[in-house]
Amino acid sequence: MRAAAPLATAVPIVYPSASMNEMLRRAFEPARLGGLELRNRFVKAGAYEGMCPGGVPSEALLRHHRAIAEGGVGMTTVAYCAVGPDGRTFPQQMYMREAVVEPLRRITDAVHEAGAKVSLQLGHCGWFSRNTEVSGGRPFGPSPTWNMYGTLVGMPFARGMTEADIRRVIMEFGDAATAALRAGFDALELHMGHGYLLSQFLSPGTNRRTDRWGGSLANRMRLPVEVLREVRRRVGPAVPLLCKTNLRDGFRGGLELDEAVEVARILEAEGADALVLSGGYTSWNPFYLFRGEIPLRQMVEVEHTRLMRAALRCFGPFVMHEYPFRELYFLEDALRVRAAVRMPLAYVGGVVSVEGVERLMREGFDFVVLGRALVADPDFVRRMGEGRLLRSRCDACNRCVAEMDRPGGVRCVCAAEERPTPRT
Ligand SMILES: Cc1cc2nc3c(=O)[nH]c(=O)nc-3n(C[C@H](O)[C@H](O)[C@H](O)COP(=O)(O)O)c2cc1C
Repeated sequence: MRAAAPLATAVPIVYPSASMNEMLRRAFEPARLGGLELRNRFVKAGAYEGMCPGGVPSEALLRHHRAIAEGGVGMTTVAYCAVGPDGRTFPQQMYMREAVVEPLRRITDAVHEAGAKVSLQLGHCGWFSRNTEVSGGRPFGPSPTWNMYGTLVGMPFARGMTEADIRRVIMEFGDAATAALRAGFDALELHMGHGYLLSQFLSPGTNRRTDRWGGSLANRMRLPVEVLREVRRRVGPAVPLLCKTNLRDGFRGGLELDEAVEVARILEAEGADALVLSGGYTSWNPFYLFRGEIPLRQMVEVEHTRLMRAALRCFGPFVMHEYPFRELYFLEDALRVRAAVRMPLAYVGGVVSVEGVERLMREGFDFVVLGRALVADPDFVRRMGEGRLLRSRCDACNRCVAEMDRPGGVRCVCAAEERPTPRT
């Protein structure tokens, strides 16, 4: 083993080995993300953990991220934290408030002790909501719409946002970012994809406004850009801001790649430090972003009411399209963005092998983002670095997705069945 150049701010625990080829070595060497140094280019994807009972981060969440940090990533991401109470998709989800700052602080301390950095994904769900506690009893988004996801909890319609709603959401992003820094986060990821609020504004399929917040791409970009500016104003120039964006919404009439390239150019000009390139619109095509099997049986089992279970069993096969898994399934689209901007790009989607990592380095991506491979093996990065595990055992069965809300939170269901672990 050859030691990497020492870093002032990070303790490398996975060293690039002399036997690695040049591209793989690049992935294991320290890298800069805005004003931050990471010990390598591997980042844990924001992947909802289901470990915040009552909306408060638990010891299980701490252990989860500490294990990922000890497993070798340069940075882990604590998933979806709503910027305010109305930004929750369902009532038990975490939202930023004083009560979560201290528990989050313990998590960031634990990750730092393990030598990694830690980012927080900040988001707002817009009308993609089952949150019966939402103010006024109706979720809101760019335009009035049917909210299929909330129909069975009595929230079938969403209203269009007023100018005051929009201003409030921008401020909430700023306030949440400030609180996240107090909790010790090194970076923030602004969720602009997957059909959440900022993506609802970006999408021509769901933003039908005729004022300055809708219509042209510049108008549809206005809210994401104003959010980015407000967060930057609050956190200062040194804190890395990543934006998770869609390459395509994946439904007819939604955002397509040509516009996604423009979105990337605009975010680069606005000073985002990196983009995490994803795709899909959870309310219309939940498996576009995951790819692989649809674990319908498990999804039915975890629904809380009989009505929900019956509805999902009957309509699930019609509303959920299957998108076959292949390694690096977003690569072709992501390369279009790579060719258009100079800013750091983080690739996500189907990274499961050493060859995949090498390919991403060869194609000029700056960071490798891993979701399910780290759910299956939290120490995948370390073992790849040591040449002990060249391919993740994740087979994209997606049962981790179906069961992420079970008590104890997200886990690789297949691995747990092979070797049961105690639930917390
Ligand atoms: C259990 C689970 C939960 C997820 N939750 C989120 C989330 O909260 N926010 C988000 O942006 N993406 C979420 N994702 C998507 C991942 O960030 C990632 O984009 C996706 O899993 C594809 O990467 P992979 O092929 O490496 O798994 C989740 C993925 C999984 C597996």
